[in-house]
Order: sequence, then structure tokens, then C-alpha cells
Amino acid sequence: MCGIIGCVGHKNAKKTLINGLQALEYRGYDSAGISYFASNMIKTIKTVGKVSCLREKVSAAGKEEATCGIGHTRWATHGGVSDTNSHPHTAGRVTLIHNGIIENYKELQDELEEKGKKPISQTDSEIAAMVIDDCYKGDPEAAIRMAVSKLEGAYGFCIMFSDIPETIYAIRNGSPLVAAHTDKGSLVASDMVALVSHTKHYFVLKEGHIAKMTRDEIIVKDETGEIYSPHIHHIGWDMAAAKKGGYDYFMMKEIHDQPTALLNTIRPRMVDGLPDFSADEVGDDIFENINRILITACGTAMHAGLIGRNMIERLCRIPVTVEIASEFRYQDPIMDEHTLFITISQSGETADTLAALRLAKERGAKTLSVVNVKGSSIARESDYVLYTHAGPEIAVASTKAYSVQLSVMYLIALRLALVIKKITEAEASDYMTKLMETVDKVEEALGYDTQLENIAKRIARNDDIFFLGRGLDYALSCEGSLKLKEISYIHSEAYAAGELKHGTISLITDNVPVIAVATQPDVFAKMISNVQEVRSRGAKVILVTGPDASVDAALCDHQVVLPDTDPLFTPFVSVVILQYLAYYVAVEKGLNVDQPRNLAKSVTVE
Ligand code: M6R
Repeated sequence: MCGIIGCVGHKNAKKTLINGLQALEYRGYDSAGISYFASNMIKTIKTVGKVSCLREKVSAAGKEEATCGIGHTRWATHGGVSDTNSHPHTAGRVTLIHNGIIENYKELQDELEEKGKKPISQTDSEIAAMVIDDCYKGDPEAAIRMAVSKLEGAYGFCIMFSDIPETIYAIRNGSPLVAAHTDKGSLVASDMVALVSHTKHYFVLKEGHIAKMTRDEIIVKDETGEIYSPHIHHIGWDMAAAKKGGYDYFMMKEIHDQPTALLNTIRPRMVDGLPDFSADEVGDDIFENINRILITACGTAMHAGLIGRNMIERLCRIPVTVEIASEFRYQDPIMDEHTLFITISQSGETADTLAALRLAKERGAKTLSVVNVKGSSIARESDYVLYTHAGPEIAVASTKAYSVQLSVMYLIALRLALVIKKITEAEASDYMTKLMETVDKVEEALGYDTQLENIAKRIARNDDIFFLGRGLDYALSCEGSLKLKEISYIHSEAYAAGELKHGTISLITDNVPVIAVATQPDVFAKMISNVQEVRSRGAKVILVTGPDASVDAALCDHQVVLPDTDPLFTPFVSVVILQYLAYYVAVEKGLNVDQPRNLAKSVTVE
């Protein structure tokens, strides 16, 4: 939520900042702004709208040279979308950008107002700038330290002081910040997509540490003021991975990235044909003496958890609960050292998931995270990490991250089943072969685009769309429905097909589209009965089945016949169909697929 970037020493700082903001735009796109040193003064240009509007405004402002500046792309929390509420914010000698929420801003504002200091915006971020300025008596680090001791909430700040040219200070709590030094100068940003065109080497600024960034170096100090040498990470992907690669939208590119992402995630964990986490340093002891598993995540990642639960319970016969992270921590959850607590997160920074993880650790559970972004907070704070190798996911709607999360959940289920002897090596090896074969089926499903585009045109004008499924197909339908509603703005819900008659069926009337996913042989007949029920109430039915399904032509308006896949593995393939459907409906409606309204990619506030 909100993208931030800072650079010092770069010849054309304004260009570096704006290009970086363009890459970070998926984190928020309500407004954008930059501040930079020019002629020994801090100048600010900001505007409502996307980074392209800022780019125009900056170029209209002329060719003033700058080598140090900060930039922000906003997802509004406190205060509406306006130029005044856009970042950067200036208070006295302090100019800052902020990602996060200052929860006690009102009390701080009251204190400042008692001193006669009034904000001009409605944002919590301006209050943070005012607090730092209020504490500033010539020593920037002391001022930042004193100010953050008064702040409650989450923040990633980049701060410039008008009397300290060519220098940026950064500090964070909760919100992510990565930094890098190259021969051209220093850089800091919310994530590496903004910096990858400059360097592949970076470090994660630890919570509470202050980074002082100049042309020549970055000095990091810990909470006690001691100099700290951060661990340098290397990213395994390049600029091409963070570009659209000829597709109209990142989402479409990322749908097509899925076979490669799956192979990159599964292959390193297949040793002699068996699931194996030794290279991840996840020993089998993590699976020993556990009597339950708790999976916690948000949104799409939580949906991957639902499929994971199905697989783990099926193969391992260990009870698994899946909880939405934002609810979990307020339920006084029961956990102990026999609980394996799994968090799933693409960004590794989702505030609710991170808070749930911290609670699980406090209560003594063993923690394992499935994370895409290396070195992210969730990855660092978990006892064990299994990284997914999707590369950067830029579209707000998650696609490839979901598929690779599924693959890791399958690997966990298989390894655990093997360790606790619920399956033999021969069976595990057979499952692994099927998992690898599924990747080819995903590739085949990518060829269904035209069919789905045609179906999408027929449902894009409807106000409500329902998804139905049973078992794995129900869990998958939850993801299909989320995908559709978040980018097409069509109201959509997923239902367990057996639940229909308990109320939901009253919503089914003439021409209401129902996407029925019926790939599971054990519940196929029951699914078909449920489809009959909606059909006889006038529903427009799109039926997704395996190739062996025998279906009466009158039962549906369209049948999507999946490539021949083992039923246990169909979610990998069916999800491509549902991703395509959501994508083409949004395109048909002329919407910005990659940047749906009101959303942001990485939700770093609770
Ligand atoms: O980064 P995370 O995986 O923790 O994000 C969790 C959700 O915000 C995310 O999956 C969201 O639901 C998707 N972007 C929706 O497509």
C-alpha cells in the first residue's frame, strides 16, 4: 500500500524517481508526487491521478537538475484523494513520504495544535512530518528517533531535511523498505521492482534501524545508534520479469508465466522423484509431533490455503484449519508446540498475516511460511520458509502467485504424508510425477483464451455472477469469484453447491450466469443435480468439466472441457480458465485490468 522511492547521487534524480514510481504504481494509484533538492532548496511536485499525470506535471515544470529526491504513489487511507493530501508532505525543515498508518495521529495533532502548529492536509502522514520537525533541533537522527518513539502504527518513511542537502534518511516499522548502494549512488524503495533496473543487490532495512543515504554510502544504525552491516540479498530475476513483455496487461503476462513459475517452484524440491525440502533447510522435524495445522492468510493466498487443507487432510489425516488472518488474531486462538502454523503470502508483508504469525510464535507454534518475496518480513520472522519462485507479480489480481502457492501446499502435503508414513515412497513418487505432468496441462489450458474471451463477452453485462463447486472445486471457485469481482466490478459469490438450497438459490433467476466447476468424479453426479436446479430456474450455465464427463447438451450454455488431468490436480488447470474469464470480462468492460479501483497490491495496513 503506497509505493515509496528515494535516490541520492543519480544524475537525473527526477527521472529515476518517476520511473521507479511507475514500477511501484501497483501499490497505489490515487495520487503521486516527488520532492527533490534543487538550488539548495526542497521543491515538491504532486498531483492527483496516476504516475503518468505526475510525469506530465514534472516535465511541464522544466528541466531543473536534481540528484537527490523522494517519490510516492498513494493508496489513500486518511484524507480523501486530493493534491493537498498527496505526498510528499512538508513541515518546517522536514519533507517526507510515508507508507503505512499512524494510528495515534489525532492525539499527536492535538498536541501540535496546542503548540500553535496546524496541518494543512487531512493525512496522518503530515502529522508524522510535523512531529519529526517538532523534534528537530539540528540532529536529524535524534529527531527521527524521538519522533518515532511517539508514533503508534506502521510506517516506512523517507525523510529529507532542508538544511541537509543531498541526504535521505529512511526508517520503518511494519511497512517494507529495501535499499541499495551502487557506483551511481544510493537508492531506497518499497520493493525491488523499483530498483531492479539499477541493481540486483539490495538489503532489507530492519525495523527500527535508520539508514542515512548519501551519494557515497548508506550508513545503517540500529536502535542503540551502533553501526550495523546489513545482509546483502541478490534477486534472481531481471527487468524483463517486471515488464509486460508484449502483453496488454501484466495480468495476462502473469497468467502465461504460470508453467515456468510452477517448474521453478517444484523442480528444486524434487529429489530422486520425491518431495524434498532439504535445499530450503526445512528439516522433517518440523512435521514431527504435530497434531494439527493452522493455515492463515488473506485473499487469494487464503484460497490457496483452502486447497492446501483439502490435500493435507486427504493425504495426511491431520486436522487443518484455514483462517482469514484479519479474524484469526482476535479469536484468542488455541495453539501450542504441537501446532504447525503455516502462513501464505505473495508479498510477505501483508500486515494481518504478519500479525497472525507473530501471535502464533508467541503461543509456541512451529511456524512455516510460503512466501514469494525474498527477505520479506513474514519470511524473516518465520521459523522456516518455503519460497515460491513466481518472480515479481505486478498485476493487483494475483494469478501466478496463487498457482505456485498451490504447488507448495501440495509439496507440503506430500512430504508430510511421507514423513508420517501415510503414503509410501512409491506413492509419493507417483504423485510427484502427476504434479509435474500437471504443468503441461496448465500450458495446454493457456490455449483456451479464445473460448473464454467469447464466453466473457456473453456475461460481461450481467450484474451478478455465481460460482459453484464441491470439494476442491468449491475452494477453487472462491478464487475464481474473487478474481472476477476484483477486476470486473461485477458482484460475484462462490457457493458450495450443496449449500444452494439453504437460501442461495433464491438469487438465481433468468439469465444469471452460474459458473459451475465439476471436475471431481466423487461428487460429479451431485454437482450435476445442483446444476440442473439452477438451470431449471433460468440460469445461464457455464460448466467446467474434465474430458470424461458426460453432460446433456441442454444442461449448460457453454461447456469448457479441461485437458485430461488427474482430478486431484485439476485446480492448477481450472484456475487458468477462471483467470481468463475474469480477465476477458474486465477487458470487455473497458476496465484497467492491472489496477482495479480502490485496491492495492500489498496490504501493509490492518
Ligand atoms: O501478498 P499477500 O499474498 O499476502 O496478499 C494477500 C491478498 O491481499 C492478495 O492475495 C489479494 O487477495 C490478491 N491480490 C487478489 O487477487
